[in-house]
Amino acid sequence: MAAPRILSGIKPTGRPHLGNYFGMMRPGIEWQERGEAFYFIADYHALTTVHDPAALREYTRSVALDFLACGLDPKKAVLFRQSDVPEVTELAWLLTCLTPMPMLENCHAYKDHVAKGKVPSHGLFAYPVLMAADILLYNSNVVPVGRDQKQHVEVTRDLAEKANRVFGEVFTVPEASIVAEVATVVGLDGQKMSKSYNNTIGLFEEEKVLRKKVMSIVTDSAPVEAPKDPANSAIVALYRLCAEPDAVALMEDQFRAGGIGYGDFKKRLFEALWDRFAPFRAKRAELSADPATLDAILEDGARRARAVALPTMDRVRKAFGLK
Ligand code: TYM
Repeated sequence: MAAPRILSGIKPTGRPHLGNYFGMMRPGIEWQERGEAFYFIADYHALTTVHDPAALREYTRSVALDFLACGLDPKKAVLFRQSDVPEVTELAWLLTCLTPMPMLENCHAYKDHVAKGKVPSHGLFAYPVLMAADILLYNSNVVPVGRDQKQHVEVTRDLAEKANRVFGEVFTVPEASIVAEVATVVGLDGQKMSKSYNNTIGLFEEEKVLRKKVMSIVTDSAPVEAPKDPANSAIVALYRLCAEPDAVALMEDQFRAGGIGYGDFKKRLFEALWDRFAPFRAKRAELSADPATLDAILEDGARRARAVALPTMDRVRKAFGLK
């Protein structure tokens, strides 16, 4: 069987956090050994919320730096900016014409927005169609994502199947790849870690900020001596992501036994997180001191991405009757 085409994206709406890393970046870095991996910084998608050009540029670069620092190898994987291949917006329009409104009305990002009483932009409503265009433009087989993106990959599959029925076999039908243990990484308040909930831990926080954030993790009010439930603790959930299995087992036993306060467990979590990202921090410092190298990586990525996207668009335009 030919090597699979793997593709995923991350929105530059802020600095990447532990949910992004464990849910998508780390699995993506593992996938780069097993097929042709394409990862992009979804700056068109970020425009649904970021309306500050300087911030958008800075977040875009910092997402790229974080990904590279964590182990994305630009010789193996293609790293590019979504907007460097603007044909994706053309494909999004073609797919829009096949998308039933109720399908988008059912998507959770839009529903959550409306439930909060906010007025969604057309961009937010059509967001899953642009995402489908991202995936289909590169003939992707596998899409590594966290659980919150599963519904969007299903929309993509539906649209690809529909286009294939109407216009002949024009698209590859992709599949989501979700790593069960990290499908939903919890944040400081125990809900899903998300920039929009303001409960994130960034991958490269300053030491003081990281310590402060970890110490602010929400717990119940159990006193030091009381036994505690490791199953419902954000401290243990985050510790599992960054500590060795025997250290995790020890923390779980000590939770159950009682006699240690949450503050001590939080200090242990801080140490584990700090150590876990130490080698990446050094690499990030090196990369950020050399902006020309990052520019060259993104340019090379754009070139390699276009080499796949342009023939796809030719095929699609013909199939849809535009040529
Ligand atoms: P974004 O930028 O919100 O998140 C990037 C990736 O991180 C995952 N993730 C999480 N995983 C586990 N636990 C969490 N708490 C957590 N928070 C975020 C997300 O599931 C995602 O995989 N729409 C996408 C970007 C995108 C895309 C695409 C992805 C645009 N086009 C095409 C795949 C294919 C998004 O907003 O991700």
